[in-house]
Parts: sequence; C-alpha cells; structure tokens
Amino acid sequence: MKVGIVGAGMVGSAAGFAIAMRGGAREVVFVDRNAALAQAQAEDIGHAVPFAHPVKLGAGDYEVLAGAGIVILAAGVAQKPGESRLSLLARNAEVFSEVIARVRQHAPDALLIVASNPVDIMTEVAQRASGLPPERVIGTGTLLDSARFRALLAGHLGVAAHSVHGFVLGEHGDSEVLAWSSARVGAEPLDRIALQLGVAITEEVRAKIDAGVRQAAYRIIAGKGATWYGIGAGLARLVQAIRDDQRAVMSVSIRSPEVAGIADVALSLPRVIGAAGVVSTLVPSLDDGEWAALKRSAEVLKDSTAGLW
Ligand code: 2OP
Repeated sequence: MKVGIVGAGMVGSAAGFAIAMRGGAREVVFVDRNAALAQAQAEDIGHAVPFAHPVKLGAGDYEVLAGAGIVILAAGVAQKPGESRLSLLARNAEVFSEVIARVRQHAPDALLIVASNPVDIMTEVAQRASGLPPERVIGTGTLLDSARFRALLAGHLGVAAHSVHGFVLGEHGDSEVLAWSSARVGAEPLDRIALQLGVAITEEVRAKIDAGVRQAAYRIIAGKGATWYGIGAGLARLVQAIRDDQRAVMSVSIRSPEVAGIADVALSLPRVIGAAGVVSTLVPSLDDGEWAALKRSAEVLKDSTAGLW
C-alpha cells in the first residue's frame, strides 16, 4: 500500500511518523505547497525507519501520489487558541477546491481520508468535489474524541484503554455526543463495572470526563499551539484497517443519507472499516437524551453548510 499525505504540517507528519512506526504502508509520500517542508518531513521520518518498519519515504508535487491506495488530506489552516473548528470552514474549503482536483488527477483510485477541520464538513466538501462514493471519502471525525473518551474513562477506572469500548458521535467539535449509555468495559455496562471495581461514576465524574473530551483540543492548542500525536496515531490505525481489510469498528465521518432525522449530513457514527472504506454503518444504542443531542449535532453541521452547495 502506498499512502499519500497532502499537507506536511504537524498532523500530516505525525500521521506519516505513526505509519512508519506501526508499519501501515510500504511507501509514504508527502505533498505540500511548501515543497521544502514536505521534503524535510520525509527525510526526518526516513531516519526513524531503521528503528521502525521498512517504509519508503518520499515527497514532491502531486505527481508523487501516482499509485497511492489512500491519500490523507491534512492541508489547510488549523485553529488558533480559542478558535472553533467551524470557523476554519471558508479558508479550508478554498484550499480543498484545488487540492481535491489535483489528487484525483494523479491518484484516481485512491480512497480519501480527510483530517482537515472542520473535518465533517471538509469530508462533505471532499466527497462532493471528488465525485467518489461517500464510503470512499472518510473523515477522521470523532475517531480522536472516542480515543480521548476511552483514555479518560480507563484512567478513572484503572483499566487499560483497550478494554474500554465507547464512542463519541456526531460532530468532531463542540456539539459532539459522548455515548455514555452504550459504553462498556470488557463486555460489562459501566454501572456494573463501577460496582465491581469499587469506583464510582457519578454525575460529577461524567461531567469532568465530558469536559475533558470536549475541551481537549482547546486545552492542548492553548498549551502547544496544535494537536497532532493523537490524530496522527488515529490516522495510522485507520490506514491499517483499510489496508488489511480488518472490518474494524471505529467512529468516523462520512456523508450519510440520514442521521437522527436530519437528511444528508456528514458526521460520525460507529462504522465498519475495510478495504472498500466504510463497509457498514452501525446504529448505536443511545438513550433519548443522547439521540436528541445527536440530532442537535447533526443540525449544527447542517446549518453550517447552508448555502455552501
Ligand atoms: C483535535 O481535536 C484540533 O480537531 C483537532 O485535536
């Protein structure tokens, strides 16, 4: 599998690094309007290869994408401290109008993974502009938020994050929905596991974890200017699930015909990921409050795209 990464900033390069460390591809190539940056990232990550997997690194203009099975789109501007993801829309939609055409020209068979924010809307922008079927244009969506949810819950309970199963759904952004009612540890619902482990999951704990997930990007951006390791690792995981046709279940964003009564919107639900992209979408078990919150999240996204198409 050859993977192209358009946008060699922090997110793109973290993805390239994570792919090299994880062994998710045979070749990774960077494209960036700053050609020197793309080249430097390829060279730097190439120096990690002797400590990692035998991945070939390269960089260049869009021609280097030829033969790529997956192209990750990480181009565009990122949030400044205090800025919301949605505020980036106009700037990044403009960047994508050129990027998508050139990616399609040089890598017509590639599946697209969108990481640029606001990622749900950028996923729809990429899907519409590329003309690819929605299941082949996957936004990272709440993949990262679900990881944050699992990590915080795992820390509270004192168990491995890998044993915590739970999803954040809807917008990758302020209106996202933590699906508490369907979260499990091992195969046990949260209230039972809390009893057995003797660790309470009170309303206060829930509120703290909710804020920890929802505010994570704001906190990290205030501290170091951007976020990149979590999303880089998530992108590498997604690449591996596609490359190996794993049928892994992850919360990712694609343009969907209908979600919680809102028609034609791109947002995250648990979806089965394989070589063809999104193979199936799962209907989550949510309580009434979570369904209502998911509907509100879908509305936020729908309203943000009003007049865009
Ligand atoms: C994040 O959640 C900024 O969307 C990015 O880390």
